[in-house]
Amino acid sequence: MALLVFLLLAFFTGPAQFESSSTVRLVGGPHRCEGRVEVQQNGEWGTVCDDGWGMEDVAVVCRELNCGEAKWTPSGTLYTPSTDKDQKVFLQEVICQGHELNLSQCDQVEVFDCTHDEDAGAQCEKPSLTVRLAGGPHRCEGRVEVQQNGEWHTMCHAGWGMEEAAVVCRELNCGEAKGTPRGTAYEPSTGTDQKVLMQEVICQGHELNLTACEPVDIFDCFHNEGAGVQCEMLENVRLVGGPRRCKGRVEVKHQGKWGTVCKAGWNLSAVKVVCRQLGCGKALLTKRCCSTTQGQGPIWLSEVSCSGRELSLQRCSSGILGKNNCTHDDDMCVECEDPFDLRLVGGDTNCSGRLEVLHKGEWGSVCDDGWGEEEDRTVCKQLGCGESLFPSAKIQKFGRGVGRIWLDDVRCSGKEKSLEQCQHRFWGHHDCNHKEDVAVICSEP
Ligand SMILES: *[C@@H]1O[C@H](CO)[C@@H](O)[C@H](O)[C@H]1NC(C)=O
Ligand SMILES: *[C@@H]1O[C@H](CO)[C@@H](O)[C@H](O)[C@H]1NC(C)=O
Ligand SMILES: *[C@@H]1O[C@H](CO)[C@@H](O)[C@H](O)[C@H]1NC(C)=O
Ligand SMILES: *[C@@H]1O[C@H](CO)[C@@H](O)[C@H](O)[C@H]1NC(C)=O
Ligand SMILES: *[C@@H]1O[C@H](CO)[C@@H](O)[C@H](O)[C@H]1NC(C)=O
Repeated sequence: MALLVFLLLAFFTGPAQFESSSTVRLVGGPHRCEGRVEVQQNGEWGTVCDDGWGMEDVAVVCRELNCGEAKWTPSGTLYTPSTDKDQKVFLQEVICQGHELNLSQCDQVEVFDCTHDEDAGAQCEKPSLTVRLAGGPHRCEGRVEVQQNGEWHTMCHAGWGMEEAAVVCRELNCGEAKGTPRGTAYEPSTGTDQKVLMQEVICQGHELNLTACEPVDIFDCFHNEGAGVQCEMLENVRLVGGPRRCKGRVEVKHQGKWGTVCKAGWNLSAVKVVCRQLGCGKALLTKRCCSTTQGQGPIWLSEVSCSGRELSLQRCSSGILGKNNCTHDDDMCVECEDPFDLRLVGGDTNCSGRLEVLHKGEWGSVCDDGWGEEEDRTVCKQLGCGESLFPSAKIQKFGRGVGRIWLDDVRCSGKEKSLEQCQHRFWGHHDCNHKEDVAVICSEP
């Protein structure tokens, strides 16, 4: 039954196809950039005689195949399996200058006297595989994609295992491999019908990168679900030891333990990401924690590199977790703006009272100049209360505020979801006193 299902699937999905339009190829070598030279004529593949075969000719083959630099001009007989008896030798000689884009631009002499003992071979650079994990929750988990000829391809899931995953995790500085889920477990790349790489890699598990693993050409990829990799990652981020939630020592959680972040590589772009991730406001500053706010325990993160657009610190690249030469003197502290927050104080419920807004860690009141029904409604909406009961609120009922008057001349259109989106004077600029504090009464939710 299993075999039948396999055959049916194979029939309906079919093998993935080659998409090469090249008229030269290298066969029998350890990778697609080394082997016996074959050229195509009228749909048939034949060999090239090694008369006059030199580095200029190999250079052109390497260029045509996108294989980097020419390395050597081996004999084609070194590569197995050897040529079929029926296979023809097509060319006696190829005469390239070395700058041609492909072999068909070189002068070619038709064969008149040559056997397969004289087949030409070519060795170019081993193609390097640039790898990334796409569609996952962070940069250390996702569908395996490798770049070839400037295009990202998925890897076939067949033949993909923990050794290969270990190498990918190492190459991406992502710690230990944890699993090899199917690539289909992750969000597809938008809008593209992604090609499958017609190559497998066999790794021992200790290689530094995927390029160092042994490549094996494949000719089809049944059940194409793509390969996936899950490496270890930071679990969480927080700011501790500060006077408020959005200021303090940066700590990340890994292997269930909170640890600190080292100054190496750390800059305001990384702070921006942390502030965004924590739902705080703008990134204000970052500096080394002073001795009283230093952390203890592991120093998990160093060599952090964020562009500032990442949605979480987990998406920035970094050194291997826990592997660095930092000390707690290098612990980083940051300050983000507080999130814009509101509250109604002095009432019987959270839905009535004097209006206060949080700014720079301090609660302050709002002046009633220009305050009207739209503004009232926006506050009730933002607090998740019921309808605004404007204009019933009288500040005398709730008591005047003390301290800061943060906002004045607030103007909402009524469409805003929060007071933050309304216009107002610059924070702290006003011509009011606390007699003019705004109070709001909303119905209960
Ligand atoms: C070889 O390169 C020339 C010039 O770019 C191009 O016109 C021709 O189609 C190429 N031939 C092959 C077989 O790629
Ligand atoms: C891959 O690792 C090998 C050693 O295993 C090293 O020589 C090579 O430079 C590395 N390549 C890249 C692209 O990092
Ligand atoms: C922070 O460093 C990253 C590279 O690690 C760089 O791309 C970014 O522009 C830097 N940001 C700032 C604000 O210097
Ligand atoms: C730590 O320092 C040693 C000695 O200077 C160096 O060989 C090693 O590469 C450093 N490790 C890291 C992760 O920076
Ligand atoms: C009012 O708000 C405070 C602080 O946000 C909260 O602890 C309390 O549960 C709220 N009370 C009601 C009735 O929602």
